[in-house]
Order: sequence, then C-alpha cells, then structure tokens
Amino acid sequence: MKIGIIGTGMLGEAVGLHLLDVGYDVTVFNRTENKTERLKQKGASIAESPKQVAKDSDLIITIVKDADAVNEVIFGKSGIMSGKHDGMCIADMSTVNPNSTREISKQVIEDGIDYMEIPVMGGPNVAIDGKLVMMASGKKEVFEKFKTVFDSIAEQSFYLGDTGTAHSIKLAMNLQIAMLALSLSEGITLTKKAGFDPEIFLKILNSTYFKTGMSEGKAHQMISESIEPTFTLANLKKDLDTINDTADSIDAELPMAKIARKIYTDATEAGFGDIDYTGIISYIKELSKK
Ligand SMILES: NC(=O)c1ccc[n+]([C@@H]2O[C@H](COP(=O)([O-])OP(=O)(O)OC[C@H]3O[C@@H](n4cnc5c(N)ncnc54)[C@H](OP(=O)(O)O)[C@@H]3O)[C@@H](O)[C@H]2O)c1
Repeated sequence: MKIGIIGTGMLGEAVGLHLLDVGYDVTVFNRTENKTERLKQKGASIAESPKQVAKDSDLIITIVKDADAVNEVIFGKSGIMSGKHDGMCIADMSTVNPNSTREISKQVIEDGIDYMEIPVMGGPNVAIDGKLVMMASGKKEVFEKFKTVFDSIAEQSFYLGDTGTAHSIKLAMNLQIAMLALSLSEGITLTKKAGFDPEIFLKILNSTYFKTGMSEGKAHQMISESIEPTFTLANLKKDLDTINDTADSIDAELPMAKIARKIYTDATEAGFGDIDYTGIISYIKELSKK
C-alpha cells in the first residue's frame, strides 16, 4: 500500500511522520516545499505536483486548508486527477463544507476514482502517535479497503455512511472547540480581573461535572498565554465561517455560532490569526483594556 499526502502543514506533516514511523511508503507534496523537509529526512519521497503523488500512490490523503484548496489539488493544473489510475482513492482529511464535499466527491467518482471524507479530531500532537479520532463517509467497501491505514492514523474511527455526514459532524465538533476556548478565556479573564488566581477557578471547575479535556489540559497554558500552536486561530475562524455557511444552507439557526464567528473574525483581523486557537484569550484580554 503506497500512501500519498498532499498538504504538509501542521496536521499533514504529523500524519505523514506517523505513517513513515509505522513503515508505510509515503510520497508527499506541499505547495510550499520547505514544509516537506522533516518528512524527507524521515524517508518520504517528495513529489513535484499532486499529479506525481497520484501516480505514485494507492491512497492519496489531502490535508489542506479549505474546499478551494481541495478543489485546486484535485482538479487544478497538475492536480491529482491528471495522475489518476485504477484502484486509486482520494481521502480528504481537511475540514470543509459538506456541500462542497458532496460536489467534489460526485465529480471524482464520476471520473472513476474512489473518494472518502475522513475529517479528524485531535491535532498534530496526537496525530504523531496515530491517536486521532476519525469520522469517515463514503462507500463502505472503500472504507473497508483502506481501514488498515485509517486504523493506523486514528485510534478510533467512526464510519458514518453517506458523503457529507462526516464533515457535518466534524463541524459540530469544531463548534464545541470554539465555544470551549471562548468560555475558558472569559472565565479566566473574569477571575483575573476580580483579583483572584485563575488556577483556583480551574481547580474548582476541574472538580466538577463541567470539566473538559481543555479545562484540564491547555487551560493552564491559556493562563500564562504561552501556547505552542497546534491549530491556528485563523483556521478555527475558517471553520466558523464554514459552520455558519452550512447552517444557513440547511436553515439551522445557530445564534452562538454567529457570535463566535464574529469574535474569531475580529481576533484574526486584529493580528491574532497565526497563534494557537486558545490564544483567543489574548484577544479577550485586550478587549478588557479598551
Ligand atoms: N491542526 C489541527 O489540529 C487540525 C485538526 C483537525 C483538522 N484540521 C484541518 O486540517 C486542515 C489542515 O490544517 P493544518 O492545521 O495542517 O493547517 P496549516 O498548518 O495552516 O496547513 C494548511 C495546509 O494547506 C495548504 N494549502 C492552503 N491553501 C492551499 C491551496 N490553495 N493549494 C494547495 N495547498 C494549500 C498549505 O500549503 P502551504 O504550506 O503552501 O501554505 C498547508 O499545507 C485544515 O482544513 C484544518 O481545519 C486541523
């Protein structure tokens, strides 16, 4: 089984390093070539285009920013489809709009190539050990064909049926992430402004039913605002755009998602886009100074 990875940003690099670690033959492409350096050192072959990745791979995993980027690497000049061959499958791990996924999947399948959507929960820090949680949609037999690889990437994978389902659920997941980061940011800011140690707030929160992985983990770094980026605030803002667009397309009224989109958009425009998404606390702190 030869695996291709297109998009070696934070997540793609970690997935690739793990697949090399467990012995897969991996070919990668990234638009900005220097982001393939660590993978090259670990033994990955570096391709000059998505077309080249397709020619050299059975399963091609796309891990790029958004639906425009997925379209570009699949259908663009020297894209995956120009290197298509029998038995090849494209599996998209990017977080994208389920409506776009349905269109992309339809076009790829009409051209005789298998397509899966495999969005994940968990960042590069868990991807490096193959411990992501995967949501998969597409044909069941295609999921089964590549399940060994999916099981290597993720410690749990959920097969969810029809195209578009996995991405819809992934968007609901990322809504949780956005809200949790905001509520912790505001709780910590409130405690600090009231003159108390926010660690006490976390200690009590984490003694209750309302604790989360985030309040037990990253929240401590949020207090000191020293957070190594694993998922950028700009990418979470991108997901809030997608969540709101998707909600509009199915007449779902999500008032909190609208407010969250505005806050993350304002933070990105104020220059906080490149930091970790939990750095939203730094933006909230700035607001208190005004
Ligand atoms: N990081 C996480 O924790 C995490 C978890 C789950 C899902 N995701 C999703 O996974 C995807 C990648 O996330 P990431 O954190 O790895 O982001 P990232 O570090 O910002 O990387 C983005 C990747 O997309 C590529 N890209 C962007 N626009 C492109 C285009 N038009 N054509 C070709 N390539 C393009 C970038 O290439 P360049 O290097 O050339 O810019 C880069 O490889 C996103 O959809 C994100 O929402 C991320």
